[in-house]
Amino acid sequence: MELAGLKGSVALVTGAAQGIGAGIAAALHAAGAQVAMADIAGDKAAAFAGTLGDNGNGGDAFPLALDITDPGAVADAVARIEARLGAIDKLVNVAGIQRLAPLVEQTLADFDATVAVNLRGTFIVTQAVGRRMAQRKRGAIVTVASNAARVPRVRQGAYCASKAAVSHLMRVFALELAPAGIRVNTVAPGSTETEMIRRMVAEMGYGPELIGGSLEKFRVGIPLGKNATVADVATAVLFLLSDQAGHITMHELVVDGGGALGA
Ligand SMILES: NC(=O)c1ccc[n+]([C@@H]2O[C@H](COP(=O)([O-])OP(=O)(O)OC[C@H]3O[C@@H](n4cnc5c(N)ncnc54)[C@H](O)[C@@H]3O)[C@@H](O)[C@H]2O)c1
Repeated sequence: MELAGLKGSVALVTGAAQGIGAGIAAALHAAGAQVAMADIAGDKAAAFAGTLGDNGNGGDAFPLALDITDPGAVADAVARIEARLGAIDKLVNVAGIQRLAPLVEQTLADFDATVAVNLRGTFIVTQAVGRRMAQRKRGAIVTVASNAARVPRVRQGAYCASKAAVSHLMRVFALELAPAGIRVNTVAPGSTETEMIRRMVAEMGYGPELIGGSLEKFRVGIPLGKNATVADVATAVLFLLSDQAGHITMHELVVDGGGALGA
């Protein structure tokens, strides 16, 4: 069954230069959406957008350099996107960072940076776009959080907390935007094959315990026995953006092969 409501829509994806964000942008583009691809790594977003070509439905993806922690830059970017592509119907918040350290050793700079991007930056973008969607009484929003919001993980305290906070923030956005008919949901991936997970595995010195689990590292494994692919996560996001999810809001869809044991 084809997902409805994506073709011809205008989508903004943050963190779209690589990994999960790039995969979601490519999937939306392939579904016939006009996609704005925003990332702090603007050149990389442009290079990836260039590989997507024309989808025959509004043309090429529109890459732009954007630091989501800068409210002025976000306001400008949203205005530029709408002037060029039209009203944003779909917002996908993917930009995020991870700074690994035990909490008793974590620097304030790393703690602040994590919260600034994962929570505050996502708030800034969702507010800027949500405000416009509310006026138009049209739109769907999906934020990529993490299953680390649901179970504690060693050396990921700031990350876990920022993801738990952003997940709950989205439920409040969902509640407040529901009267305007706007749906707001979250997708919570577990370990997914991207740069971020490769960096984490290297820094944590993980081997087979990433999937098998380790009592010494207080880590449960992944019952399905594999990491997620970017496509696994993108498929969940596209479903929640589509008309088929028309009565789903305030939901968190966990895509982690059982890694958080359903918590
Ligand atoms: N990979 C995983 O295992 C995994 C698991 C759960 C959740 N996630 C979440 O999924 C999202 C994407 O992760 P990924 O694995 O693709 O990571 P990634 O590091 O490969 O990509 C993240 C992207 O976000 C961009 N970004 C960072 N700070 C930004 C800012 N201030 N403004 C704009 N863009 C910024 C980066 O330039 C990069 O392109 C993140 O929010 C991450 O927390 C990832």
